[in-house]
Amino acid sequence: MNTIEVVQIASRRDRPTEPLIFEKHVDRTTGVDFPPLDVPEIGVPEELLGSGIDLPSFGQHDVMAHYTHLSDRNFSVDGNFYPLGSCTMKHNPRINEWGASLPGFACLHPLQDEDTIQGALRLLYETRTMLEEIAGLHEVSLQPAAGAHGEFTALKVIKAYYADHGQSGRTVVLAADTAHGTNLASCTMCGATVETVRTEHGQTDLEHLKEVISNVGADNLAAFMITNPSTAGLFDVNIKEIADIVHESGAMLYLDGANMNAMVGRIRPGDFGTDAMHFNTHKTFSTPHGGGGPGSGPIAVTEVLAPYLPVPQVMMANNGSFYLDRDREKSIGKVRSFICQFGVLVRCWAYISACGPNGLRNVSETAVLNANYLAARLADLYSMPYFDPQNGKFCAHEFVTVPRELLDKGVTLIDIAKRMIDYGVHPPTMHWPVHDCFMVEPTETESKAALDHFVDVMRKIASEISLDIEKVQNAPLESDIARADEVAAARKPILTFT
Ligand SMILES: Cc1ncc(COP(=O)(O)O)c(C=O)c1O
Repeated sequence: MNTIEVVQIASRRDRPTEPLIFEKHVDRTTGVDFPPLDVPEIGVPEELLGSGIDLPSFGQHDVMAHYTHLSDRNFSVDGNFYPLGSCTMKHNPRINEWGASLPGFACLHPLQDEDTIQGALRLLYETRTMLEEIAGLHEVSLQPAAGAHGEFTALKVIKAYYADHGQSGRTVVLAADTAHGTNLASCTMCGATVETVRTEHGQTDLEHLKEVISNVGADNLAAFMITNPSTAGLFDVNIKEIADIVHESGAMLYLDGANMNAMVGRIRPGDFGTDAMHFNTHKTFSTPHGGGGPGSGPIAVTEVLAPYLPVPQVMMANNGSFYLDRDREKSIGKVRSFICQFGVLVRCWAYISACGPNGLRNVSETAVLNANYLAARLADLYSMPYFDPQNGKFCAHEFVTVPRELLDKGVTLIDIAKRMIDYGVHPPTMHWPVHDCFMVEPTETESKAALDHFVDVMRKIASEISLDIEKVQNAPLESDIARADEVAAARKPILTFT
């Protein structure tokens, strides 16, 4: 195997360890000069003074430098390639941040009178209608605070519909064996029983779907929750047939829309038979949050489900003004405080508006192209169980690799992941949806140069496994800290002030 030259990030080992801010304290320094006192000085009574809180003192620049050094040690979507499969960690355009921080949005109080927040309500109304169009469904509720919350809310809506139609016995929900964990959790929280449907090479096994429905009994079935493209990064080509099978049982098709980045602007879920779905606006429409952070999970539903959506719903009156409708007789009620995750939806509005229909189509086309490009350039070294372009099997916006041949040489998946850190790449999602896999999602915002760099890194690591295996086994070698005990770090964290 040829050795590949990859530029390694500058070794951070050379940098002095960053002391705690308390250790950097300099006596009698201050970052602020208060103006001279222009009121009579009144002493604070002794008993109220306490013994002091021992805060460190600094000049402004010292504080800035301290926290800049620390932030510099982070991996971030702003600074690194971040192909965290299923999280859609794409570039977050700064104009969205600017919009969300405008005082007219950021300083609103959620209890203000409606006539003082017309601009905000208009933005929500427009977001709602844009998402309805993108989904190809009748009505959207912006209330859910994240994808998982959207699943939960939509299942409550479906449950309310069945209760209202004398079919409360429909308590079983089907989920694919590759389903995201939140699907199962949402079902359980809604009191539904989950039955698993097999997938074969990332596609729903139709015969098994029929078999499970017949075992469960069509009259007991509430919904099939499907993620499309699936978590194996493949579009389920039988989606219309699946919808027909589910509908024949009188049940609903629920789309986990977390992967809308692969089809936004090209396919409308309502057109292939979706009855209800959620968006992860914090993936598809910027505000990436993999690993935490604010999200928003609006749901879209068909006309028959719309009366059960949560309140309040943002509406436009005949005179063109906007208001919150709290009076929907059949609504499941509120699912969160106030109205929605407003700041995230400002970013969503800005993103969709900036892209427009052609731009959104471009988003999904480029996301899919980028993933296929990477897969094609790596498939000879990193085996890809679901990727076989010679036989027409392309991936959607992400791909799964199970690098068995490399693992058999004596490294673990985590070794490869840690070595990626040495080359400035955030490791992809691991061991999901199948064991020993990486799930790589490059997104549409990466340049060809960034994609090529990733290919070089992955090929370089493969060559190191053959020629210099200890480098990979002991990685990371260039990061600020050596390999952490991740379980201990999560379960017994030792927290210090920085
Ligand atoms: C396929 C899928 N469904 C649901 C979710 C849950 O979304 P959230 O993290 O916003 O709750 C995720 C999140 O990664 C996901 O990838």
